[in-house]
Amino acid sequence: MNNWNPDTWRDFPIKQQPTYPDLEKLKKVEKELASYPPLIFAGEALNLKNQLADVVNGKAFLLQGGDCAESFTAFDANNIKNLFKVMMQMSVVLTFSGGCPVVKVGRVAGQFAKPRSSDFEEINGISLPSYRGDIVNDIDFNEKSRNPKPKKLLKAYNQSAATMNLLRAFSRGGMADLNQVHLWNTDFVNDHTLGDKYDEVSSKITESLNFMKACGITSETSPALAQTTLFTSHEALLLNYEQALTRRDSITGDWFNCAAHMLWIGDRTRDLKDAHIEYFRGIQNPIACKVGPTMKEEELIQLIDKLNPNNEAGRLNLIVRMGANKIGEHFPKLLKRVKKEGKNVLWSSDPMHGNTIKADNGYKTRDFEAILSEVKQFFQIHRAEGTYAGGIHLEMTGQDVTECTGSTSSAVTTEGLASRYHTQCDPRLNADQALELSFMIADTLKEARKDIIV
Ligand code: PEP
Ligand code: CO
Repeated sequence: MNNWNPDTWRDFPIKQQPTYPDLEKLKKVEKELASYPPLIFAGEALNLKNQLADVVNGKAFLLQGGDCAESFTAFDANNIKNLFKVMMQMSVVLTFSGGCPVVKVGRVAGQFAKPRSSDFEEINGISLPSYRGDIVNDIDFNEKSRNPKPKKLLKAYNQSAATMNLLRAFSRGGMADLNQVHLWNTDFVNDHTLGDKYDEVSSKITESLNFMKACGITSETSPALAQTTLFTSHEALLLNYEQALTRRDSITGDWFNCAAHMLWIGDRTRDLKDAHIEYFRGIQNPIACKVGPTMKEEELIQLIDKLNPNNEAGRLNLIVRMGANKIGEHFPKLLKRVKKEGKNVLWSSDPMHGNTIKADNGYKTRDFEAILSEVKQFFQIHRAEGTYAGGIHLEMTGQDVTECTGSTSSAVTTEGLASRYHTQCDPRLNADQALELSFMIADTLKEARKDIIV
């Protein structure tokens, strides 16, 4: 890799960073972090890259989801377990009803740093630095809380390590056993139709497992039936943290970000001349970049060439987040161009970030219908172009929150938003809404895959 090191990003312009008052302290923390063990190892990241290459080739589907921002206060085993369970449910629905293997990637165990629309927030004439995620500062609106504190990088690392540990235990220790498929129902499936629909799928799976058992195939003889892999990902926004966890693989000599299996660049920090692109070009993990409505064709091709110069399938995931009323205008031309240039990329849809609105009562929310509409259009546009809609990227939680309005299962109204609005940042789908969306995607996926199954 030409002239690249984990710290070369420091010579480039950078957006969306905190201003630390104490730079000496920051340096000390970075040094300490750099001495800590990696959270993942290169082989795992390469394994994910291979699985994502299958997605690019139409053989699998990517499900990426989790909190908009993890928080230090909501750090709790139940939250992690419920996210795990709902991802398992969604993946079973997609695998069984959609007829397609699912690569599961959580926005979890490191998803702390947030880009903001403004550097300062003003309330009643008082202006303070914006909240940038628990890895940077605190959400409370007072000067002390909003001051960026380097020590928070260490806490983010520790929370990520503990979260990852529990996820690995769930994945390997029995929680992912397909014989448990009925138990993945979160405690609150409010909607009976949805619950019944899920029960129908899980009963069919149990029936198949019984048949296989009769043939001598059990989770003891075939561990794949009892285990899964949930990969981790986050937006690599705070490069001080990411650099400290960037390590050289002793086998290949390549550099990997060892804070997560997959990292992405946000829509606001993807400028070709900026620090984030510089940092990302040098790490060998699978990576992603958000693609919003302002992305230009030529710019996208240059971005692809910079981030994936060898045109490797599985290396680069483009996460399209245009908004339901913009995707039809902006996405087809980008897709056509990328196809024409023969670029191997994984296309996934983030139907959340282009559909954020402010409700009349002031809550930041998203309407389920808009989310659904963007996903449907994403699939239709791919179908028209003969390309593969490879994945979905969601802000969601296993908790019974009221943050997004609508859906037949959950029926959260604008008035109802206040009752359980817990997000640190953007509104998330609750477990019912996430499951309902996956049933819809499963149907669409099944249709779409008819064209590619030979
Ligand atoms: C996010 O994924 O939380 C986010 C900020 O997205 P985007 O960069 O697409 O705005
Ligand atoms: Co968000």
